[in-house]
This record gives sequence, structure tokens and C-alpha cells, in this order.
Amino acid sequence: MNGTRPPILILYGSETGCAEDVAERMARQAKRRRFPVRVHPANDFTGSSLSDETIILFAVATTGQGEEPRNMKRFWRAMLQRHLSPTLYSHITYAVFGLGDSGYAKFNYPGKKLYKRLLQLGANPIAPRGDGDDQHYLGLDGALVPWLKDLWIRLSNRYPLPKGVEEMSEDELMPSTYRITPVPPSSSSEDLQYRLVLEEGERRVSCLKNTRITHPDHFQDVRHFIFGMDPDKDVQEGFPRDTSHLSYRPGDVMNIQPENVPEQVDAILDLLGWAERADEFLDIQPRETGSSNHPAWIKEKRTLRQLFTYHLDAFSTPRTSFFEWLSHFAQDSEHKEKLQEFTSPEGQDDLQTYCHRMKRTAYEVLKDFTPMVIPIEYVLDVFPRLRPRPFSIASAPKPTGEIELAVGIIRYRTRMSSPRVGVCTQWMKDLQKGSRLTASISPGSLELPDDPKTPLILIGLGLAPMRSFLQERISQGAYENSVYFGCRYSDKDFHFREDLEGWAQKGHLKLRTAFSRDEEKRVYVQHRMVEHAQELWKSIHEESAKILLSGNANRMPDDVATALVTIFIQEGGMIEEEARTLLGIMEKHGQFQQECWF
Ligand SMILES: Cc1cc2nc3c(=O)[nH]c(=O)nc-3n(C[C@H](O)[C@H](O)[C@H](O)COP(=O)(O)OP(=O)(O)OC[C@H]3O[C@@H](n4cnc5c(N)ncnc54)[C@H](O)[C@@H]3O)c2cc1C
Ligand SMILES: Cc1cc2nc3c(=O)[nH]c(=O)nc-3n(C[C@H](O)[C@H](O)[C@H](O)COP(=O)(O)O)c2cc1C
Repeated sequence: MNGTRPPILILYGSETGCAEDVAERMARQAKRRRFPVRVHPANDFTGSSLSDETIILFAVATTGQGEEPRNMKRFWRAMLQRHLSPTLYSHITYAVFGLGDSGYAKFNYPGKKLYKRLLQLGANPIAPRGDGDDQHYLGLDGALVPWLKDLWIRLSNRYPLPKGVEEMSEDELMPSTYRITPVPPSSSSEDLQYRLVLEEGERRVSCLKNTRITHPDHFQDVRHFIFGMDPDKDVQEGFPRDTSHLSYRPGDVMNIQPENVPEQVDAILDLLGWAERADEFLDIQPRETGSSNHPAWIKEKRTLRQLFTYHLDAFSTPRTSFFEWLSHFAQDSEHKEKLQEFTSPEGQDDLQTYCHRMKRTAYEVLKDFTPMVIPIEYVLDVFPRLRPRPFSIASAPKPTGEIELAVGIIRYRTRMSSPRVGVCTQWMKDLQKGSRLTASISPGSLELPDDPKTPLILIGLGLAPMRSFLQERISQGAYENSVYFGCRYSDKDFHFREDLEGWAQKGHLKLRTAFSRDEEKRVYVQHRMVEHAQELWKSIHEESAKILLSGNANRMPDDVATALVTIFIQEGGMIEEEARTLLGIMEKHGQFQQECWF
């Protein structure tokens, strides 16, 4: 019964999948309200190709330092063209939901800029801009759930349904996105084998080294990985021989596609009652041709075991849409009710307590709500895609094409009885020499100064990008480098210590370390910075030094910013407001760049 309201185009810009998930959620809600809908990454459209649209909804994330995600950049460039008429989109109704994190200086910039640019081009907002914030105590849903509720009221009022046509009720199950049918066993052997498919920009790489670099007594397992190309293995895996390297620049990020380990895959298949059918090849076809957000491998046949090994994420903390789907498949009426409540605005606190605070995995949620009967056709709706994880490259480009990483294996406790582990890092921990994996490179948000003579100040806890930059600078003969590095113990988690101390001895850098647990008094990088206030001020003020800050975040970025403000006040004779303004200007002009992850 679609087609009774004007069609909606939903465009997303997403780096790690959240905005794409929001776009799909918007699409399901639109379909329930009888709006025909298509979902696309924004790059599928350019300025003029939007002219035929009536209603456009945007879900736009932020990456880097207030930048647009890669699958939106081309679209955004087209939107900025000077010659576009101020009435170009006067026939278009739109809404923008931005996804960001107010811990970053440029909170939700792409969403904010897009909303404004559409106004300049004559488009008509149907609702105020939504600003999703990871820092909200309910996460993204804190802003999204009420925003969507308001949006549908506005759209439904603007475009009433004809008499006799009803919206679909929340209880009614939507058709699955894909039609999934078993491939007959008599099919050609071509159809009954696993064929690897790569997304644009991806390459297969081999693991050459995987060694622990933290002391065996240290609580955290941090590993040094080296990856390289192997053209012979590429051919064995069905790809053309490719002798080129996966090229990158210092500061770039390597995205690693994780896999689920066999025990996990067996566990989820058992739980869902699919063990018997786990190795049956399936043909997977999109039901509707309008949208284009399908993974590249969808054209191939897959078994359920392969889907859960390579493509589906069942072991991360699930998003709200997971609960939305489960509410249809739970067999117990109380379970159904609880799952529905989790997706309602009123149920958000409970969802936070039950799931996000405890970091329950999708698998654990399923166990709690057993019995659950999920038709196989819905497997790609219920479980999100297993996404690549970003890691800063720890080496400068080498003639051999090798790429090095320093990876912290995620393992921590919540009130759940078993420790929480990172999907990708837990799998990487056991990579062997020769193991093959899929990876791609994306630009990081830190950049070396164009002129090697410009002094460089590296601050933080993330040694990977620092080492990459230092290798590059030293190879350029650029020795005006200062490093402010912090970790817990000088002899347990000071990674790449020999490299740094060796360079310091040769006069290639000034090394200032802060080992927070070696001394009775906790010392952090910001304390070392203030100790060297005069030297830092001179370098920043007189020599326009560039400052790059990296590492996992918590309070560190704020503490470092406060230390810089203190230095500007102390050495530059400024009042606090002037010092903060100067820091803001430095950030705006790229003299101070940060890449921190939470
Ligand atoms: C630009 C960039 C560069 C990065 N570079 C590096 C790098 O060089 N090295 C590196 O090790 N990591 C790096 N990271 C972080 C890394 O990408 C993430 O940690 C990644 O999620 C790990 O994947 P995973 O599948 O193992 O963990 P996931 O299964 O994705 O779980 C990660 C999630 O676990 C939660 N979590 C983790 N630790 C804790 C804790 N102690 N308490 C509570 N919750 C916790 C957080 O919610 C986190 O988002 C980088 C991230 C970015 C964005
Ligand atoms: C590397 C990185 C950089 C980010 N930079 C910003 C930023 O500058 N401003 C902001 O508001 N949010 C920033 N965020 C937060 C993301 O926009 C937010 O987590 C969003 O939900 C991610 O959506 P996605 O999964 O669709 O990419 C950043 C997140 C990451 C991982």
C-alpha cells in the first residue's frame, strides 16, 4: 500500500555506520507511514540530481575534525558550487539529523553546514535540525528518538493520508530488505563456493608480525602488527595479481575488517536454531531496487556460517533497531512488550541501564529473550554489518609496502559476569604469521607541516601516529621535534621506547615523558607541558610550531588544552579569554590538530 504520500529520499553520510543505521530506521518509519522511500549514501547524488525530489531527509555524521564522512564528500562539494541558484531547491522539503560528539570542538559541523546550505538554496525545512550527541547520557537516541517523533507528526500533518488509507501499526512486521532463498544443491559448483568480494579501496593483506609490546605483567595487551602484500596469495584468493602497495601517508589510518571466531559463530547459530542449516548456500536478493546501500558481497552466494563469520555483527552492543526487530520475533508476550518499550522514548533510560551501561552484546540480549524465532529472510535486517575498525598507522611509508600498527586489545569489565572484549582486537590478537585479512586506508585527521623546517610538537598517549610522523620527519632531516608522551609505567607500557630514546640520543627530538604510576604523585603529559612552558611558548609563538595531539581520549584532550591555555597566559601575558581565542584560532588554521578516540 505504498504510494499514497509523496516519495522520500533519505541520504546519509556515515563513516562507521551509525548514520546509515539512522537512515535505515528513518526509512522503516517512513514505510509504516506509507511514504515510498529510497535510501542512498549522499555521494550517489549531486546538486542537480536532487532537483526531481520532493522530500529529502538527511542523516549526517561527523568525522576527523568536523569533517564530512567520505561517502558524503563528493555530494557536499557539489552543494558548495558557487553558481547554484538561491531558488534551486525551493520545491524541496527537507530535514537534517546530524550525528556528532560534543566532546569535539566542531560539534556536528557537517549537519549544521548542510542545514544552512539547503536554506541558502531555497529548500524548506520541515523541522528544526536534530543534533545527535554521543555524550548524551542516552547516547545518540537521546536526541534522535524525540526528533523522529516530532518529524513524523510534521510530515504526516503536511501530507495527510487519503481517506480509507491507514498507517501501518508498530506491531505489523515490515517485509525483509532481502529475499533469501536456498541455492539448490544441484547448482553449479560456481554457486556453491565462497568467493571473497572487496569493497572499493579494500585490499587483502598478510600478517607478517604480531607481538605483544606491553610487559607480561601489565594489565593491557598492546600488540605491534606488521602487515604486507602478497600477490601470490591474492591470486590464490581469486584476485588479479597486484604488485602495487596499499599506499598511505604519515598519519593515515588503516581500517581492518574483523571476523567472528568459529566458537562465536557456532554459539549464535545454535542459539538461533540454525545450526542444521548453517552450511546451506543462500541466494540473497534485494527486494527493492530503489536503494543502493547494499554491501558489495551481496551479489555472491553465502551460507549462514559465512554471514556470521565475515559479514554480520552479533557480538557488539546492539543499536535500538536491533530491539525493534526482536520485538517482532520474541515468542513470549512479556518479552515482546519489554522489547517494544526499549524502542519507545519512555523506555530509553531502561535500555541504557540494561544494555549500553552493561555493554551487553547482541548475542547476550538474544539469550535473555529466548525463545526467539527469527525467519532467515530477516537475518540481514536484525544483525548489523560487521564494520572495519580504524587504527592509526605506526610507520612511515616504506619501499616494501609494509604497514605497522600498535593495537590495544580491548578487554574490560562491567557489571556483567564475563569480561567485555573488542570484536576486532580480540580476533586480531590471535592472528598468525601468514594470516590473511581485508584492510583499507583512509586519511587521518593529523597532518605534518608542509615545510619540514616548521617545528613539530607531538602530544598524547597514542604512539602510533607519533611514530609514523617521526619516522617521516627524521627521514626528511627535520629534527625540530618535541614529544610529550604519557603512559603508566616506564618499563611496562612505554611502546617503541627504543625508537624514541634512540632518536632523542641522536638529537632528532626532545623527549618529555610522564609515567603516571611510577611516582607517588600522578604525573601526566599536561604537567610536563607546563614544566616546559617557556620552550613551548617560544616554539608556538615565534616559530609557528605545529601541535598534533593523539590517543584515546577521556579527559586528556581537555587537560592538554587547559595546559596550553595556562602556557599562553603565563608566557604570553594573556588573559584567559585571549588564550582560549588563540587556541581556537590555532585549531581553525590547523596549527593545533587532534585525533582522539573514546
Ligand atoms: C582515528 C582513529 C585511530 C585509532 N587508532 C588506534 C590505534 O592506533 N590503536 C588502537 O588500539 N586503537 C585505535 N583506535 C581505536 C579503535 O579503532 C577502537 O578501539 C576499535 O573500536 C577497536 O575495535 P574492537 O572491535 O576491538 O572494539 P569494539 O568491539 O568496537 O569495542 C569498542 C568499544 O568498547 C568500548 N570500550 C572499550 N574500552 C572500554 C573500557 N575500558 N570501558 C568501557 N568501554 C570500553 C567503547 O564503547 C568502544 O567504542 C583508533 C580509533 C580512531 C577513530
Ligand atoms: C575519528 C572520529 C572523529 C570524529 N570527529 C567528530 C567531530 O569533529 N565532531 C563531532 O561532532 N563528532 C565527531 N565524531 C563523532 C561521530 O560523528 C559520531 O560518533 C557519529 O555517531 C558517528 O557516525 P557514523 O558511525 O555514521 O560515522 C568523531 C568520531 C570519530 C570516530
